[in-house]
Amino acid sequence: MDKLPFHRGNAPPKRAHPFLRSPLFAVVATLFTLGLLNVNFKWHDARSVELPINAAEILRKCSLLDAQPGPPPDFHLRTQSDRFQEGTPPTLIRNATIWTGRVSGHETVVGDLLLDKGIIKAVGNIAQSTLDAYDDLVVVDVKGAWVSPGIVDMHSHLGVDSVPALKGSDDTNSLKGLVLPWLRSLDGLNTHDEAYRLSVSGGVTTSVVLPGSADAIGGQAFVIKLRPTAERSSSSMLLEPPFSLNNSDTEHLSRPRWRQMKHACGENPSRVYSGTRMDTIWAFRQGYDTARKIKERQDKYCAKARASQWDNLGEYPEDLQWEALVDVLRGRVKVHNHCYEATDLDGIVRLSNEFNFPIAAFHHAHETYLVPDLIKRAYGLTPAVALFATNARYKREAYRGSEFAPRILADNGLRVVMKSDHPVLNSRHLIYEAQQAHYYGLPDNLALAAVTSTPATVIGQDHRIGFIKEGYDADVIVWDSHPLALGATPKQVYIDGIAQIASPFSVDKPAPFQEIPETPNFDNEAKDALKYDGLPPLEPAEDVTGFVVFTNVSSIYLRRGHTIREVPFTATHGGGKTVVVENGNVVCAGDCVEAMISPDARRIDLEGGSISPALITFGSSLGLTEIQQEASTNDGDVADPLTGKVPAIVGGDGSVIRAADGIHFAGRDALLAYRAGVTTGIVAPVSDGFLSGLSTAFSTGAAHKLAKGAVVQEVAALHVAVGSSSASISTQIAALRRLLLGNGEGDLAQRFRDVTQGKLPLVVQVHSADVMASIIHIKQQVEEHYGNAIKLTFTGASEAHLLAKEIGEAGIGVILSPSHPFPGTWESRRILPGPPLTQQSAIAALHANNVTVGIGIVEAWSARNLRFDVGWAALDANGQLSKAEALALASVNLELLLGVNSESSDLVATKGGDLLGFGGKVISVISPERAVVVLF
Ligand SMILES: *[C@@H]1O[C@H](CO)[C@@H](O)[C@H](O)[C@H]1NC(C)=O
Ligand SMILES: *[C@@H]1O[C@H](CO)[C@@H](O)[C@H](O)[C@H]1NC(C)=O
Ligand SMILES: *[C@@H]1O[C@H](CO)[C@@H](O)[C@H](O)[C@H]1NC(C)=O
Ligand SMILES: *[C@@H]1O[C@H](CO)[C@@H](O)[C@H](O)[C@H]1NC(C)=O
Repeated sequence: MDKLPFHRGNAPPKRAHPFLRSPLFAVVATLFTLGLLNVNFKWHDARSVELPINAAEILRKCSLLDAQPGPPPDFHLRTQSDRFQEGTPPTLIRNATIWTGRVSGHETVVGDLLLDKGIIKAVGNIAQSTLDAYDDLVVVDVKGAWVSPGIVDMHSHLGVDSVPALKGSDDTNSLKGLVLPWLRSLDGLNTHDEAYRLSVSGGVTTSVVLPGSADAIGGQAFVIKLRPTAERSSSSMLLEPPFSLNNSDTEHLSRPRWRQMKHACGENPSRVYSGTRMDTIWAFRQGYDTARKIKERQDKYCAKARASQWDNLGEYPEDLQWEALVDVLRGRVKVHNHCYEATDLDGIVRLSNEFNFPIAAFHHAHETYLVPDLIKRAYGLTPAVALFATNARYKREAYRGSEFAPRILADNGLRVVMKSDHPVLNSRHLIYEAQQAHYYGLPDNLALAAVTSTPATVIGQDHRIGFIKEGYDADVIVWDSHPLALGATPKQVYIDGIAQIASPFSVDKPAPFQEIPETPNFDNEAKDALKYDGLPPLEPAEDVTGFVVFTNVSSIYLRRGHTIREVPFTATHGGGKTVVVENGNVVCAGDCVEAMISPDARRIDLEGGSISPALITFGSSLGLTEIQQEASTNDGDVADPLTGKVPAIVGGDGSVIRAADGIHFAGRDALLAYRAGVTTGIVAPVSDGFLSGLSTAFSTGAAHKLAKGAVVQEVAALHVAVGSSSASISTQIAALRRLLLGNGEGDLAQRFRDVTQGKLPLVVQVHSADVMASIIHIKQQVEEHYGNAIKLTFTGASEAHLLAKEIGEAGIGVILSPSHPFPGTWESRRILPGPPLTQQSAIAALHANNVTVGIGIVEAWSARNLRFDVGWAALDANGQLSKAEALALASVNLELLLGVNSESSDLVATKGGDLLGFGGKVISVISPERAVVVLF
């Protein structure tokens, strides 16, 4: 009898259907057992009730109707993982500091970790006798390093929105209807995505691969592990695939497994189908109504079967297209709902209560922190909330996104998950999302859980992943620092007990990085986010003139021309250095004597913070866009003379557009950047073609264009792009050569003359090393032709490291954007990934070849994060870059590379820690130009 499904069902005994205890059940069950034993038996002879030939089959199906998913009860007795790969050696990780995920993320165990047969065999103090049983044990002494469970990315399009992006690699969204619960992301899962290896190197071991958000119901999602498998198939990557996938009989012997499904509300489905929110919700309701009717027919059918009303019962009501949505109504599917705004969250909460189905998580969910009580009103278990840390404002739905959302949600008892939406964010750096959430106030236990145990629990896999616990899958990360420290990088990643990085490169980070980072207090800012309904004022609180004295300063960096130097610490002065500022100008830095300080000076204790040059952002459209996806908030794209016609009224093909004419001030991304110490933006006209125009340098903190210091430099450099235009690459290069050799017309010809005379830098956006090589060649030709050097900068430059020596010799500068390269496109695919995959980072490789390097960004929201990009770049360079050199990457080097000649520049004061780490909070900008000290 124990092979019968009835006894394996998950339903607690009190809920067992009376049929299970009925005499008829006993008869049928016995018959079924005999049937399994292949005894040739005649059904009709064996009973008095008229049963159809497949009665046992029907009753079996009906008994499972409401079986709830989960692991079989004996799951934890397993001695080997179903994913164990033959030949994997047992591994002992010695002397680890293990964050287990247990006790709400509060448990740390110092000891050893034994991995064997794809599972964790033992944690902590492991008996010698246990170890003696192995003769082939691989022992890795990690010398106290932090070890955590593998990262679980609950929102990824890895393998379906593949990189490099090719026409043949986008299987994310079907556009064949608004409600498509029958589609499966697995059917598009590309086994050759470049990102698997990269994401694994960042510690991601499991991802939920979701269909896109173009549809209200985009289809079923699948949980994968990211390692290569012996079979090399998509299916072999799956973690606990639902039995229905291959119609396996196993389903009848065990509890069902969790399924996952994507839903999306709001802008995306409405936009794709030129509908409205009303249309989308109706499409949901219609789909759910169809599923409900099928479910009700099934329930009625089974009620009759159980009551032995077999007459005219007919076929079991089923529909392959709707079975997954019926399963949602049976509570057997984890519904992942892309949903941002209160309006849309409200609609979905209503939907869940109208049709009685639970939502596993709201994703993106930028307004959930404003409406926690609404989220709690959803049907069933309160949905978790899956967020980005600081990626926001790219559309209306994200405009009120807050960096404080994770902590506010956690304060309200909601479960918080940090996710990548890979390739929207590179999931390799998902741990950085958790780090930022922690920086802005999410407690450390919850921040680490947000990328490990919480998502594992939300997707119904917490019986095997997301924790370090005996019997769990051997998915673990050995870190080079505490995982919440900036720049934390895996030294090794194990999936199913298999070490994933063949020759990892890492250095041990210094002691302060081995601790949970101490982060600033943002209580007031979090309160304001709520008080102002997601749009707190971002303007500085106060401008101070006269004397300001910063005390207790632990480091001071100042610029000397185009270099940055740390001011040497010669003597202590009451617990740190002092910096005296008068009308926005530093009059003394380091050892200042009281006599220099006016008695009515404002005194500001930096509590061990720092003073350093303000940063400059370049590469995004910051200053020309406010809400990326809202044309009315943006300057728009310039016309491209290479592929289109530029209107004669602006000068035709010889015209050059100036970014300064389109700049707008006081946008939220700009003000957030200013508050994060990024006080200057340099932006070129937005173009998706060859010719962009003239960039401008502006103050991110200015209220309007006429304010003092708003425009730092009207014209900075001339910008073109080779690679993004629809014209052939060779055509774009021909155009560039022709223009450089003096064949343009109008203003464009004049600007190119300035370039060839060395007066105006030419900035070429380019990713491919082959294109860079061609341009290096043109530069030589042009310089020979004119007899003088030209200033040339490559930006983007993902493949620049391949030509580091040649670029250095040609005297060309490079602005890497993004600063962490990603093989998103074919022409940027040959990246230098940096530790732990390669010893050198791209920045270090270029720097070592005497290339002047800057770092840029791609999207405006990330300007505020520049200080962490800089700190991280320094850490990735393994000591090849000093802090001062790192600061130069996003300040003086950018000025050199983009033709900005500032006489004086802003300084930034941070409290509690320095600008480049998670300890510091920017509290002030010292502005010589405006002759004030700005306080936030
Ligand atoms: C673990 O590593 C730390 C740091 O290297 C070391 O101080 C300690 O002695 C080691 N403990 C054991 C048991 O090996
Ligand atoms: C079907 O899938 C289950 C679950 O992954 C697996 O155990 C079983 O072997 C598969 N059956 C076939 C015929 O592939
Ligand atoms: C300097 O800051 C540190 C860190 O906050 C603090 O412990 C110390 O008391 C401060 N020293 C003075 C003299 O204020
Ligand atoms: C970089 O410049 C330094 C100093 O000018 C020089 O010694 C070194 O050889 C150069 N390195 C390369 C790779 O060109």
